[in-house]
Amino acid sequence: MAKPSQSSFVVKYDDNNQEFSIIGSMRPQDVSELEACTKLLETSLAGVRGTFYVNVKRLVRLNNIAFHVLAGSLVRACSERPDLRVAVITSSVVGWSTRKFGALNKVNPNIVVEEYDSEFYPGQSFLEEGEFIPILRTQTKMTWRHERNILPRHGMREGLTIADICCGIGDFAVLVYKEFKPARLVALDHSRSSLGYARKVAADFGIQGIEYIYGDAAEMLLEDEQFDFVTCRHALQIFNKPDLILKELFRICKPGGRVYVTNEKISQCLGEPRGESIQWTYDELSKLFAHFDMDLEFGPKSRKFMVEAGFDDVRMESFMVTNLDGDPQDFADIVKSWEELFAGGMSQQRGDSAEFVEKFRRGFQDHLFAALHPKGYAGWPVWVASGRKPA
Ligand SMILES: C[S@@+](CC[C@H](N)C(=O)[O-])C[C@H]1O[C@@H](n2cnc3c(N)ncnc32)[C@H](O)[C@@H]1O
Repeated sequence: MAKPSQSSFVVKYDDNNQEFSIIGSMRPQDVSELEACTKLLETSLAGVRGTFYVNVKRLVRLNNIAFHVLAGSLVRACSERPDLRVAVITSSVVGWSTRKFGALNKVNPNIVVEEYDSEFYPGQSFLEEGEFIPILRTQTKMTWRHERNILPRHGMREGLTIADICCGIGDFAVLVYKEFKPARLVALDHSRSSLGYARKVAADFGIQGIEYIYGDAAEMLLEDEQFDFVTCRHALQIFNKPDLILKELFRICKPGGRVYVTNEKISQCLGEPRGESIQWTYDELSKLFAHFDMDLEFGPKSRKFMVEAGFDDVRMESFMVTNLDGDPQDFADIVKSWEELFAGGMSQQRGDSAEFVEKFRRGFQDHLFAALHPKGYAGWPVWVASGRKPA
């Protein structure tokens, strides 16, 4: 008796980009199950010139029967047509795919494999490395004082299914878990070191209800319409194509559910005394991020992006994290780490002069001075936006 098929996949061909995509799980028990797929692949191959792209970024599983069928078509086409090049686009999120398809390059050198996220958003590497962890911890501690009250105004309540996308070290997920007792909580990030840290913190605090997963926010393996509430904090501002991420957040949100994002407008960080120097440095910080294709001015633009992504009932507000929120030293710690990370690594990477770096550092030091001054005031504004996916 034939075993029931474990396949559940979609194949698409985009003629404009000469891109053949396979999404899902391809595990046929018999070659005949792939008839339609093979036919589409062969007719697509017959019509292309130059490079043919095979997108397997979201192909989660593939058995040997399917691999041989796909490989056979690609190898045959390349040996019949030496002008043809096949680029198989894999993702590090689906660990086996680069290795498996990479073997085809030995059979025919015109078949190459490109792991599209191996050099992902180069500017973001600053934000994915271990040294960013203490900053994220203190930042979340300070923003939570505000957000725990703000979140219910955006639809957060107990018992929801929640996803926190670009979760970083997972502190926000832990706080949400404790405060709002979700029915399910998934936290996704593309930094293995941050996720490792997040898992360790959860284990240390005996929290077992959070599913931490490695993934790419722009190409999530999560299925459509699963979550009542999707959060994505301080992350749209670091993507050069925030609309692509929002599209994914929209996709995984249930109709009637809400997506909640927070972002900054960094040039509006402020402080007194020494306001002028502080202002200069944060204006420059905004330009520094723009140099690496990141938009730290994104906050007030969130409404436009949410409306254009198809959300309705868009709600927006902003809050100011200040030195008066709690221990002023916490605020000072954040600013100190910004100075190290931005005036240190990032500014150096851009090739800034020693004079520039000195002045750039001074603004952070003045912000810190204002935060700790007995009559001083220092602030960091954050914008919150949420939108409903139409029912
Ligand atoms: C500025 S941090 C914010 C982290 C966290 N949401 C918070 O507020 O503390 C941005 C996060 O986005 C993650 N990230 C960057 N690119 C990503 C991608 N393509 N997919 C998933 N996560 C990504 C980084 O690893 C980092 O943890």
